[in-house]
Amino acid sequence: MCGIVGAVAQRNIVPVLIEGLRRLEYRGYDSCGVAVLAGGEPHRARSVARVADLDEQVRETHLEGFTGIAHTRWATHGAPVTNNAHPIFSRNALALVHNGIIENYESLRDMLRGKGYEFVSQTDTEVIAHLIHSLYRGDLFAAVREAVQQLHGAYAIAVEHKDQPDTVVGARQGSPLVVGLGEGENFLASDALALAGSTEHFIFLEEGDVCELTLERVRVADRDGNDVEREVRTVAAYGGAVELGPYRHFMQKEIFEQPRAIGDTIPQADSFDASLFGDAAATAFGEIDNLLILACGTSYYSGLTAKYWLESIAKIPTQVEIASEYRYRDSVPNPKSLVVVISQSGETADTLAALKHAQSLGHKHTLSICNVGTSAMVRLTELSFLTHAGREIGVASTKAFTTQLVALFVLAATLGKLRGHVDASLEAQYVRQLRHLPAALNSVLALEPQIIAWSEDFSRKENALFLGRGLHYPIALEGALKLKEISYIHAEAYPAGELKHGPLALVTEAMPVVTVAPNDTLLEKLKSNMQEVRARGGELYVFADSDTRIVSEEGLHVIRMPEHYGLLSPILHVVPLQLLAYHTACSRGTDVDKPRNLAKSVTVE
Ligand code: M6R
Repeated sequence: MCGIVGAVAQRNIVPVLIEGLRRLEYRGYDSCGVAVLAGGEPHRARSVARVADLDEQVRETHLEGFTGIAHTRWATHGAPVTNNAHPIFSRNALALVHNGIIENYESLRDMLRGKGYEFVSQTDTEVIAHLIHSLYRGDLFAAVREAVQQLHGAYAIAVEHKDQPDTVVGARQGSPLVVGLGEGENFLASDALALAGSTEHFIFLEEGDVCELTLERVRVADRDGNDVEREVRTVAAYGGAVELGPYRHFMQKEIFEQPRAIGDTIPQADSFDASLFGDAAATAFGEIDNLLILACGTSYYSGLTAKYWLESIAKIPTQVEIASEYRYRDSVPNPKSLVVVISQSGETADTLAALKHAQSLGHKHTLSICNVGTSAMVRLTELSFLTHAGREIGVASTKAFTTQLVALFVLAATLGKLRGHVDASLEAQYVRQLRHLPAALNSVLALEPQIIAWSEDFSRKENALFLGRGLHYPIALEGALKLKEISYIHAEAYPAGELKHGPLALVTEAMPVVTVAPNDTLLEKLKSNMQEVRARGGELYVFADSDTRIVSEEGLHVIRMPEHYGLLSPILHVVPLQLLAYHTACSRGTDVDKPRNLAKSVTVE
């Protein structure tokens, strides 16, 4: 999704801006641009191709300057064409980049047209540029502060004005923005990652903040216009480029990193203690009697899986809701709820908004399960548990998902112990099973050659059904999501028992039906559902635990999972589905790491 980089320095800043955009590329974008102040006016280059193309353009045109802003755009208002690419200019005096969506842009546009401003793009962003220009009286910081009072919606912006050649001003509301502090130079970015290599010292701006960067100084004002001192945090972890190594794509690399990522996420201690979730967790966990889980996409599916664990291990009622629905629904708040937000990035706009909505309804206890310790979500919640997946580059979530599952299992076991449902021997058994997971995952990854053979068949299909039951229904959902987002094959998942209530009508010889078949209490029921498919000519592709006695025959293809893994089985069963989606997408030749229309971190609603 959209990315921002800005800088004020005493050297040509364009290479730093382009490198920043490169670091944000994996998030998904469809156009990009850079603008510098030089010779008393703004100059820009924009491209609807990749950042590499923009780099070539700036080299050819010798675009150079000491003050600049840059952007990767993921189109919302207006097609991905050069004219809509940022930076957007106002009267050749001011340049601006913007992440987010301005909801009242139509009324602002009418007002600004009335003042003689001409609109040359279809973006909502252009109103911000003209609005700030219309309010500029020699002080960009003051003009931005005044302008943002009139904006409704979400924004992170960076602005420069020809009359203040050593200044960049930023503002945020609903979209992230960080200041990077250098020696005699300062930076701005939508993600600290963009500034790796330039600084390790960051100010994570808060909602409503406006900042002014000059060579020697960073000034921050809060939403009420008061100058404030924000904490400076040192984050070294962003350094270094992520290498692909022997893998074809980051998604494949990330699938194979799961044993390591899971090993790093499993707590060191041999017991489940509330303190794993923060100092205030013991008190908070003692005051709750239910959970409300809010998340989007793959993270929502990890929440759905967790519901089974939380209700069966901890006996605590759990509700799981898609964040974008919850935030706009009239719900009944329960002060005894623990609100759990799950997110890889910690910046997903819908999940953040749902969290804030839950807090505004009076929910006191909140917990984030997140892969980014410096994210807005972690900063906003009372409690947190960090997954250690490491940077996930592929748009399709893989290691983030399985590490979330580990975190949620630990949560269920911890609450189960506190509530008297997990005794010492059960605790020791869970710890043993967790510790063995990396080795078990390695055995599952060794199934790759068999899955590649299946993917040849799948790559010629246009539809697929995924079936699972109980704990593995969310895994079927995740398998279908993986297949559709990277191979563009239409895929749907159902709890297998639901098939006869409608979707069975879709089953013909042309419909592959992927079935997740662990050896659990629902196995015999699942086998009956598989018979229903075979009776209609449907072709079954089954991932079966080795002790299920499901064997290959005409129309029934079986890959045997190496181990039966009880309650933790979803963490193993999702891996072949990730591999199936990955190899099918490779056979179809899609852009696996950057699938069309999608972004890694969805920071607009
Ligand atoms: O960063 P988050 O976990 O909050 O992201 C949520 C979804 O956007 C994300 O899981 C998305 O569904 C993935 N592309 C799925 O692979």
